[in-house]
Order: sequence, then structure tokens, then C-alpha cells
Amino acid sequence: MPETKKLFIKTYGCQMNVYDSERMTEVLGASGYVATDTPDDADMILLNTCHIREKAAEKVYSELGRMKGLKATRPDLKIGVTGCVAQAEGAEIMRRQPLVDLVVGPQSYHRLPELEARARGGAKALDTEFPEEDKFEHLAARPKARRAPSAFLTVQEGCDKFCAFCVVPYTRGAEVSRPADRVLDEARELVDRGVREITLLGQNVNAYHGVGPDGREWGLARLIRELAGIDGLARLRFTTSHPNDMDDDLIAAHGDCPKLMPYLHLPVQSGSDRILKAMNRRHTADSYVALVDRLRAARPDLLLSGDFIVGFPGETEADFADTLALVRRVGYGQAYSFKYSTRPGTPAADRPQIDPDLASERLARLQALLTEQQRAAQDAMVGRETTVLFEKAGRLPGQLVGKSEHLHAVHADAPGSLIGQVVPVRIVESAPNSLRGQVLPDEAGARPIVSPA
Ligand code: SAH
Ligand code: SF4
Ligand code: F3S
Repeated sequence: MPETKKLFIKTYGCQMNVYDSERMTEVLGASGYVATDTPDDADMILLNTCHIREKAAEKVYSELGRMKGLKATRPDLKIGVTGCVAQAEGAEIMRRQPLVDLVVGPQSYHRLPELEARARGGAKALDTEFPEEDKFEHLAARPKARRAPSAFLTVQEGCDKFCAFCVVPYTRGAEVSRPADRVLDEARELVDRGVREITLLGQNVNAYHGVGPDGREWGLARLIRELAGIDGLARLRFTTSHPNDMDDDLIAAHGDCPKLMPYLHLPVQSGSDRILKAMNRRHTADSYVALVDRLRAARPDLLLSGDFIVGFPGETEADFADTLALVRRVGYGQAYSFKYSTRPGTPAADRPQIDPDLASERLARLQALLTEQQRAAQDAMVGRETTVLFEKAGRLPGQLVGKSEHLHAVHADAPGSLIGQVVPVRIVESAPNSLRGQVLPDEAGARPIVSPA
């Protein structure tokens, strides 16, 4: 057995990075690492980074700057940068910040033990290749520890869409889907370890087209239906979707697959056709709204979430008004909105940029509307019966907190034995960022509490 060392990973960016950080912790377990939740006693620190907006990328350098003191007192400490900034700026990171020992891009995480050994030996280790082999195949040496009730599972990675503002096709590479039986095996294993809810991940998860055990290509709907057959798995979700990859079967699944939760993150970015075209989104505002209508016909209580960019090059007041109009037409239960950030190497970076103050002002107006909608959607839950998957202890003694079907955080008085169970709850109050619920009694099996497998 190698000696035990401590690993601290700080994760930025999207859920795919969260999933990757878990895999990195597991793969480095073989080199003797155990996770720690503070950088202070770590033998290795990894920053798992995000490159999506300028601010996200800059954070990495300021965080590294803060580590100088730590490294000075503990020369054996190894510091690494992983994730999308590593992929985009690998060599530059090494140049700008000499305290960095290793830089590893998202497609090379299975090579971490080897790179760590090289760094331990005193060499600098850089790997930002897109290797031929499938990293997921080599990230399989997992300890069988108990898991939290809700887990992420990456099924697809990369993107071929090339939206004019976005770095993902460059940092994560071309779209790749994992074979369906690998996903099913990993899901079964997660369920064996206590997981009750799985969120399938991909930069364009609904473009999933993995090879099935029958040798045919499976779409995401087929995969979801198979996963729904796993005993003990209570809930399925998926994120993030592109409107153009939402096929008929996936729309139908929202209506006929009870384990698929009534929540969908479906980014539109803008409500102006002119801007959508300039963004290379390849859909219009009307086609998006028509898609939302079809989804809601399949699942009337579907709660929609979205992403928006304001201040994209060329955006006029009229274009922005179209975005507000689309938001009013759709009605979002949840949304993320961003000021356009110029990303070097993307097509929109070379276009005339709009005044940042104007963009800030538009962002504030959009966020006011989205917050109002979010609050209304939350308030509308009061009085309704739903189910909650309890995840952990809540803020107050005797309370648990978990997620509703519509992904709202719900606090309720409940015994700790309900952690990891899907429980019927009546929503009684709406607070700014969460709901309060009352656990409904288990009425002689009429509305049974779903217990773990
Ligand atoms: N694959 C997803 C989104 C991935 S990035 C999709 O196609 O929708 C997550 C979000 O970050 C995007 O939806 C977009 O709203 C935002 N984003 C991406 N690049 C950006 C940029 N250059 N400036 C501001 N926001 C950006
Ligand atoms: Fe980026 Fe567009 Fe691909 Fe989403 S679909 S990851 S926004 S390029
Ligand atoms: Fe960021 Fe990379 Fe995810 S750029 S949003 S961490 S895919």
C-alpha cells in the first residue's frame, strides 16, 4: 500500500466538473490519496477550473497567487490545475505561475496517477491532449463507499455546435457519447451505494447517441427508459439540453416516464432571431416557444429553466426587448443570466463589442423579471402535495432538507431515518430560496413512503 496522502480539490464551473472531481478523487485513491476538505493539510491541491467567462478564468490565477504562502511553508505540496482553463491555457499557466506542478485537461484525467508520480519526482507535468482511449474506461477503479442520495453521471461530453460566444467545443472537444451498457452499469452501482436520484450530464446531453447493447445507437430517451427500469432508482434528471436536439421520443418521455422529474433546463440565450442567428444557435425564438409548448403538452407541470446572455455583440434595445418578451411568453421557474464575456478564439470575439455599462443595465432588468418569475413559480407550490428526496440535515434541529420533484429545496421536520428516501410532502410556505413542507403521514399504504431498495 502506498502511504496515505491528502487531496484537496476545489471545483469551479458546471456539474460536469463536479462529476470529474469525484472521478479524480477516486482515481488518485490508487496512488494513496484520500480527500480532505481544507487546503491547509493537503499534500496535493487541484483547482478544477472553468473557462466559460473571463471572470471564471481569472479566478484561477488569483487563487494560485494566494497559494504562494502555503507552498513556501510546505515545499512538498503539489499544486495542479485541471478542467477547462487547463485545456485552454495549459502552457501559459505554467509560465505565469511557476508554483504549478501539473496541468491536466479534461480528457486526460485517467492519466493522473502517472502525472502525479512525475510531479512527485520533481518534474513539471502537462497533459492537454485529446487521447484516443476512452478516459471513462480507465476511471473505473472506484471505492465502494456509500454515496449521497443524489448523484451526477456523465453520459456525453463535448460539443459540435460552435455557438459564436462559447469555448466549450474547444475545451471539451468533439461530442462523444458513452456506451449505454457502461452508463447502466455505473447507474446500478450508484444505486447499490445508496443513490436514489441520478442526473445525467453532458454539455449537450440530449444529443446523446451512445451504442446500445443491441449494437444500435440509442438516443437519450431510450437510455432514460432503460435506466428507469433499475429497482431502487427513484428519480432521473438530465442537463444541459440544446433545443435542436429535443426529439419526439424525449418529449414523450416527459409525459410517460414517471421517474423522469418535471424539470427541464433548456437554454435559449436570446429572444431575438437576429441575435440567435449571429450566435449560430440555429433555432428561432418561435421554434423554441413551440418546443416548450410541446413539452408542456406532454407534461403540463413541467418547470422550465434557462440560460440567457445579454450584451452579445450587436444587441440593440429592440433585440433585448425580444428577450424580455420571450421570457414573458415562456415563464421560467428558474434561470441563469450572464453578461456576454468576450472569449479569445471564439468567432464573436472579433466583432464590435457593446458598451459594458449598457449590458450591465440590461442584465439587471432581465434578472428582475426572472427573479419575479422564479418567486411566482415557487409560491405556486404552496398548498401542493409533492415528493421530496431528503438529502441531509436542515438548518434547524429536527429538520431535513431535500429536493422536490421540481428541484426546489424543501425544508421539513423529519427524522434522520428519512435521509435518502423519497417522501410525500405538502408544501406549506415559500421563503426566498426554499420551500417549507410537512411530511404527509404514511396512510395505510395509500401513499406509501418509497423506501430504499
Ligand atoms: N451546452 C449548454 C451551455 C453550456 S455553457 C447550452 O448549449 O446551452 C453554460 C452557459 O454559459 C450557456 O448556456 C451560456 O448562457 C453561458 N455562456 C457561455 N459562453 C458565454 C460567454 N462567452 N459569455 C457569457 N455567457 C456565456
Ligand atoms: Fe457552448 Fe453552444 Fe455547445 Fe452549448 S451548444 S456548449 S452554448 S457551443
Ligand atoms: Fe466551465 Fe468547462 Fe463546464 S468551461 S461550464 S467547466 S464545460
